[in-house]
Amino acid sequence: MEASALQALAGRKIVLGVTGGIAAYKAVEITSRLKKAGAEVHVIMTRGAENFVTELTFREISGQPVTTDMWAKVAHYHVEHIALANLADAVLIAPATANVIAKAACGLADDMLTTTLLATKAPVFVAPAMNTNMYENPVTQRNLRELAARGFHLIEPDSGMLACGVSGKGRLPEPADVVGILADFFAKGQELAGRKILVTAGGTIEPLDPVRYLGNRSTGRMGYAIAQQAANRGAEVVLISAPSALSAPAGVRIVRVETAREMREAVLREFPDSDIVIKAAAVADYRPKVVAANKIKKQEGEFTLVLERNPDILYELGQKKTHQLLIGFAAETTDVETYARKKLAKKNLDFIVANDVSEEGAGFGVETNRVRIFARDGQAWEYPLLSKMELGGIILDHVEKLLKAK
Ligand code: CTP
Repeated sequence: MEASALQALAGRKIVLGVTGGIAAYKAVEITSRLKKAGAEVHVIMTRGAENFVTELTFREISGQPVTTDMWAKVAHYHVEHIALANLADAVLIAPATANVIAKAACGLADDMLTTTLLATKAPVFVAPAMNTNMYENPVTQRNLRELAARGFHLIEPDSGMLACGVSGKGRLPEPADVVGILADFFAKGQELAGRKILVTAGGTIEPLDPVRYLGNRSTGRMGYAIAQQAANRGAEVVLISAPSALSAPAGVRIVRVETAREMREAVLREFPDSDIVIKAAAVADYRPKVVAANKIKKQEGEFTLVLERNPDILYELGQKKTHQLLIGFAAETTDVETYARKKLAKKNLDFIVANDVSEEGAGFGVETNRVRIFARDGQAWEYPLLSKMELGGIILDHVEKLLKAK
């Protein structure tokens, strides 16, 4: 870990949740390293954790009161039970047992740690540590995916010999690495400060009559994840969203639209002073030529619908762009690379994020995505199946690299 990245921890208030696993002893070293880097560490121990390490150890090392029991009289914070949730710049749970992961995934709040988790708006880091079979159990994996989709940062466990005598994945990574991940997060925390990012998301809908529309399968997840990540990195974010069931990410200005033409108008309004535009929306290429004023009644025989072309918003931006970075998506079912590279060139983009939407786990309606990124200089990157939230971060890493190179 570079010392410069560790500096980013100075003055940060970290709430460290310690749960009942054998790796709880490593949380002592995590506390010590965070403290040395200048962070203020507030430890919350679960009942289980108290079986492995004493409260006194954490109190001595952190130099702060330690919270152990939600129902005890707490004199040290002028505490309501959510004081730590409000105070945290980040929450880290290390080690995180399968139990606390399951509780967090369900939104349970039956002790101080889970209550804090539910109440906090700070970024949350979870470092699972447990027996390999418990870690690999589909229900634990589902819970972890749920947390990732909600924007929690998962710290991948190491493989190796576990305390229970089996060898496999489930070990808490070395304290220095856990602290390094947090430091990196804060180091790049504000990389996008002062930049305006325009993100589009969701699938546009095109009315046919007062009760029907043509639409597509996009849920908006990818774009919402990018918007959330960009806000976390300090950007001013405008999210232009076609209909989506998702709620607006924290710290993001949302503009809701329905049709491709409404999206175009909103995008063009925000475009001139934007620095970065990421077009994750699935925009309908066609709309019904005539929108019936009244509900269309059924008749005998076939029904013919005439469609006309919608504007290609991204193409138009490509023609207009001056200083803006322009990033597009390509949803394909065949010949992904060929089509993606064509769109990259035709729409004058800086890079394009391409996925094969016919592949399982990728594309519409799922929490995950598998993409390739093609850049205008010919470079390409391929990624494994990742949560859309993680991918959002990767896309922004590429953006940051391009901004630096400018
Ligand atoms: N896009 C857009 N306006 C449209 C259609 C697409 O701005 N009318 C943008 C999308 O937001 C995406 C990129 O262009 O970032 C590629 O979208 P996609 O639907 O994959 O491709 P199309 O350009 O529509 O091409 P085709 O339908 O031939 O695949």
